[in-house]
Amino acid sequence: MIDGDRLLAGLRTLRGFGAEGTGVVRPTFSDPDMRARRWLRDEMVAAGLTARIDGVGNVVGTSPNHGPALLIGSHSDTQPTGGWLDGALGVVYALEIARALLERPDTSHLAIDPVAWSDEEGTYTSCLGSRSFAGRLTDDALTDRNASGESVAEAIERVGLAGVERARLDPARHVGYVEAHIEQGPRLEDSGDLIGVVTSIVGIRAVRVTVSGEQNHAGTTPMHRRADAGVVLFEFGHRVQQRLAKVAGPATVWTIGRAALAPGAESIIPGVASCTLQFRDPDDERLQVMEASIVELAAELSGRGPCTVSVERRRAPIPPTVMDPSLREHLRAAAEAHAPGRWAEMASAAGHDAMELAHVLPCAMVFIPSIGGVSHAFAEDSHPTDIVRGAEVLADATLRILTDGHLTRTPAG
Ligand code: GLV
Ligand code: MN
Ligand code: MN
Repeated sequence: MIDGDRLLAGLRTLRGFGAEGTGVVRPTFSDPDMRARRWLRDEMVAAGLTARIDGVGNVVGTSPNHGPALLIGSHSDTQPTGGWLDGALGVVYALEIARALLERPDTSHLAIDPVAWSDEEGTYTSCLGSRSFAGRLTDDALTDRNASGESVAEAIERVGLAGVERARLDPARHVGYVEAHIEQGPRLEDSGDLIGVVTSIVGIRAVRVTVSGEQNHAGTTPMHRRADAGVVLFEFGHRVQQRLAKVAGPATVWTIGRAALAPGAESIIPGVASCTLQFRDPDDERLQVMEASIVELAAELSGRGPCTVSVERRRAPIPPTVMDPSLREHLRAAAEAHAPGRWAEMASAAGHDAMELAHVLPCAMVFIPSIGGVSHAFAEDSHPTDIVRGAEVLADATLRILTDGHLTRTPAG
């Protein structure tokens, strides 16, 4: 149904915006990110849609056809050093499916609205674009900053989007959102399955742990007189592994992704040490237990002295998100048609824009295998045959959804 060569060519062109070796550096609101967004907008227009870049950077295409319309997309920004398919895959699938269906006489009446969300990866604030579209972006998120200290509002001004209207879900038009993505993990490859139909997306929480001690001279301060924040942070890092392992389930993961000693000099005992600790699980109750156990460990270390240890949430917890049952049914049928007996239902261990859209629209997701289970890294890749098959599955599911006649507008939750 879709043109596989055109799809692959589109993905390779998108890769060119910010390409570095085999990977891509295309953080939100960077020059390559904005050039990629303009290219995507122009491609959508060339495909016969109207398209624009909205006030938070979303590229939103609108089919010339009346609804019901299916929103299809993903994000076009990358991690600081990211892969070429994370987000890009789902965006180029959406473009190709919208284009292919408009070209075919028997499907040219169907309405597909493709979209490339802004800042899913959280360079400034995670899922900026999809939160805005869903009407869930609070003003304080616009003060969130990137690692260089620039706020969302300042970046929007810098790239010329200040005052541009933000696109919003049209309840009279949009009946659902489907997103394709690389799995980003090893499950499909290990089982030999070719397609994953997502059942739910994990819940995600993140805290910042800050140890406060006393900055002093690394030569003249006797060991017993020190309040070395670094030593306590390392002890926290070690002990939290053991604590969390005790409450972990089979799908629980946690990561200390960033740590810093201040002021960070060889001859200074660190006065402050901090780290981020992110943890994920499909079960919100388990996440609650994990957070309590982290806070308890910090209190124990604080109580012992001489440093104090504090824990604060980095952002509001993201609860696990269940995908819409009827959209999933169409994805399962399409998966069986294109990969008979070689597809699986699975939870997503990565976060996606569908988490935000699911608050306002039925959502579903489909995965294709990631080679070696690698993602958020330059080595991220998928086989071209798997890439094309995934697009066929999503195109087939799109047809099934739009011709179903029982489209529901109840959010999945
Ligand atoms: C999204 O990229 C995530 O980190 O889950
Ligand atoms: Mn992604
Ligand atoms: Mn990602």
